Amino acid sequence: MEKKTILTGIRPTGHLHIGHYFGASRNWVKLQDKFDTYIEIADVQALTDNFNNPDKVRKSVQDLVIDLLSVGVDPNKATIFLQSTIPEIAELTVFYSNLVTIARLERNPTVKTEIKQKKELFGEKGESITYGFLGYPVSQAADITAFKGNLVPVGDDQLPLLEQCREIVRKFNSIYGKTLVEPEAYLSEIPRIKGLDGNEKMGKSLGNAIFLADDEETVRKKIMDAVTDPNKIKIDDKANPDVCMVYYYHKLIKNENLETVCKECKSGKRGCVACKKELVTKMLEFLKPIAEKRKYYENHPEEVKEILKEGSKKAKKVAEKTLKEVKEKMKINYFD
Ligand code: TRP
Ligand code: SF4
Repeated sequence: MEKKTILTGIRPTGHLHIGHYFGASRNWVKLQDKFDTYIEIADVQALTDNFNNPDKVRKSVQDLVIDLLSVGVDPNKATIFLQSTIPEIAELTVFYSNLVTIARLERNPTVKTEIKQKKELFGEKGESITYGFLGYPVSQAADITAFKGNLVPVGDDQLPLLEQCREIVRKFNSIYGKTLVEPEAYLSEIPRIKGLDGNEKMGKSLGNAIFLADDEETVRKKIMDAVTDPNKIKIDDKANPDVCMVYYYHKLIKNENLETVCKECKSGKRGCVACKKELVTKMLEFLKPIAEKRKYYENHPEEVKEILKEGSKKAKKVAEKTLKEVKEKMKINYFD
């Protein structure tokens, strides 16, 4: 039986944090053994929101590839590629644009939330919403379908984008004949990791994240500032670990003393400072192998570049094939 294809993407707008790791990239590392895996560095999509900040996107591309390699994405198994090097994706986007109404894009819950956030930032007039931004779900449909992705590992916030992609595929296939593959979501076991501040989501811009690239001192400082049970004031107060972020991370990184942490916390036998220090140690242990790989790749930038270049070359071939089929079906294959 042929291997199913997995396609996922990530915007280069900063380093990966442990939320990305547990919610997404750890999964990709597992999936690369079983599936034909493509990981897109979605720089064109990142530019829809950061067109006035090209330096940030440019730098993040390299950072992100290093992050991915450090957590164990294996370029011999998974194809890491750069969206902007594959013009076929942009062409598909243009063709798919005819199959989506503006009203439908505006109704997309993910887009809606993002527009709301933009309005909060830039005011009610909405000048911040560009044509490119509103259309990024169409471009994302092109990302997925260019590779005939069967499964798309994403967080639950991405489900509306996937639904939009499925609609485009159905519409294309019904007008031009069966060509594209309708993808399915592949949700991870832990779709969302809470922030150090107790926020439901760990986010790059929320200031509540531990980044895979953080140095020891930064990790220490962040953990020492994490939110604990607010009712625990004195060292021997009994507390509730279930409302404590420190406990949440002890659990997340599978501290083998978890039961002790829980018991001592509940019975007032554990101070928060000591508990946080223990978490710092465990977290650094957890991050160590990742940090070691990172060091290697940071010292070998040419190798990183080559991996991305080779991956992009391989991905382009696949996208070329899909585009050829699409153009045939759309009867715009004039000189073939
Ligand atoms: N929109 C995704 C995000 O913000 C990134 C992305 C781009 C993506 N292209 C994709 C995800 C294709 C899945 C499939 O995280
Ligand atoms: Fe949290 Fe540990 Fe303090 Fe309990 S003892 S509230 S688990 S930091």
